[in-house]
Amino acid sequence: MRTTVGIIGAGPAGLLLARLLHRAGIDSVVLESRDRAYVEHRQRAGILEQGTVDVLRAAGAGERMDREGLPHDGIELRFARRRHRLDLPALTGGRSVMVYAQTEVCKDLIALQLKEGGPLLFEGEALAVEDAATERPRIRFRHEGREDVLECAYVVGCDGFWGVSRKAVPSGLSRVFERMYPFSWLGILADVAPSHDELVYARHERGFALLSMRSPSVSRLYLQVPAGTDAGEWSDDEIWAELERRFETADGWTLTRGPITSKSVTPMRSYVHEPMRHGRLFLAGDAAHIVPPTGAKGLNLAVGDVVTFARALAHRWETGGSERLDAYSETCLRRVWQAERFSYEMTSLLHRAPDATPFDERIQLARLARLTASRAAETDLADGYTGFPLE
Ligand code: FAD
Ligand code: DHB
Repeated sequence: MRTTVGIIGAGPAGLLLARLLHRAGIDSVVLESRDRAYVEHRQRAGILEQGTVDVLRAAGAGERMDREGLPHDGIELRFARRRHRLDLPALTGGRSVMVYAQTEVCKDLIALQLKEGGPLLFEGEALAVEDAATERPRIRFRHEGREDVLECAYVVGCDGFWGVSRKAVPSGLSRVFERMYPFSWLGILADVAPSHDELVYARHERGFALLSMRSPSVSRLYLQVPAGTDAGEWSDDEIWAELERRFETADGWTLTRGPITSKSVTPMRSYVHEPMRHGRLFLAGDAAHIVPPTGAKGLNLAVGDVVTFARALAHRWETGGSERLDAYSETCLRRVWQAERFSYEMTSLLHRAPDATPFDERIQLARLARLTASRAAETDLADGYTGFPLE
């Protein structure tokens, strides 16, 4: 089998890349180790930055998002039983975010790919990327019980944090920057209308909590829990009671309970692999970097990477020049590190570290108080939250 761009992974990064290449008239093959239902139902991100929304629309993949997504113009910070709203468009010159789940983005892109695009092989597992540093990189893969080889002009590893593509970069050329956090997020989905019409990020002495949503009738909520927690350790009643405690306000705000339909725990990690390119292998999305979820940057970063790659390859096609492909890693990493910084700062602003001293807690509260008193501080947060621009 032969193609121009071999794409490993059909998460948001791989699917969007296949779509962008198709629109540019460049052929690709996508290999995805899991089945379609798994990819379409894996519960993860929920917030699309303005730039991501614009990219999906321009790729002809925004129709259902514009019909069913929920545009949000603000977020609430909650601490010391008080509430503070950030007006995103007012602070950023008109930018906002969209609540539209990663599951739905993937469903839309899969439907388009199967209808109009090149091959997308579910249960097609990449085993290794070979000859990455040559003009003819290859992906060895298994599909329907048989091993095969995909010969490519370029390989893009969009296979997430646990994929195989990163392993094709020789260890002597890799640098990894990593931080693990001593806490995780317990996330639930509940069949109940969200108790607030915007997202609420709550800092509490007992730990962080986040109120989000998937639709006008489905709530998505998260609780900070110790690292290593098993979702089964928490009963539904315990979860609601803890959420009520952490969201409590002096003005009597109430949280409405409902049936919990899913529970899972996400560990928190910051991770960057440099460089994001080795020869003709390009890493994109979670295959190259991870952020802790606070601030909702992961999916949006993945989108930025594949847009950068697709533009660079189109430039090469049109002009013969490879300078944009050569600059891929540095171009992406500038944006990646801004998102790493933002996610780290949001995480430390809102979570309770198990080893926090009383001094640390006062500093955290002072940082939050600053956000309520200074438009410059608010603007900086809103600017990062709505997204860093693509170069
Ligand atoms: P993935 O979505 O991980 O996709 C990789 C794909 O590659 C998978 O389908 C996998 O099956 C496949 N694969 C792996 N190995 C192979 C192989 N060997 N061969 C073939 N295929 C393979 N981000 C946000 O922007 N906003 C949010 O609100 C947000 N919230 C989050 C909440 C939670 C609880 C979690 C866990 C994450 C959240 N994120 C959020 C992060 C976001 O989900 C990820 O950053 C995003 O999924 C990255 O997309 P990706 O395509 O790079 O990788
Ligand atoms: C969601 C996840 C986040 O990490 C975040 O900051 C906001 C919302 C969500 O899953 O809805």
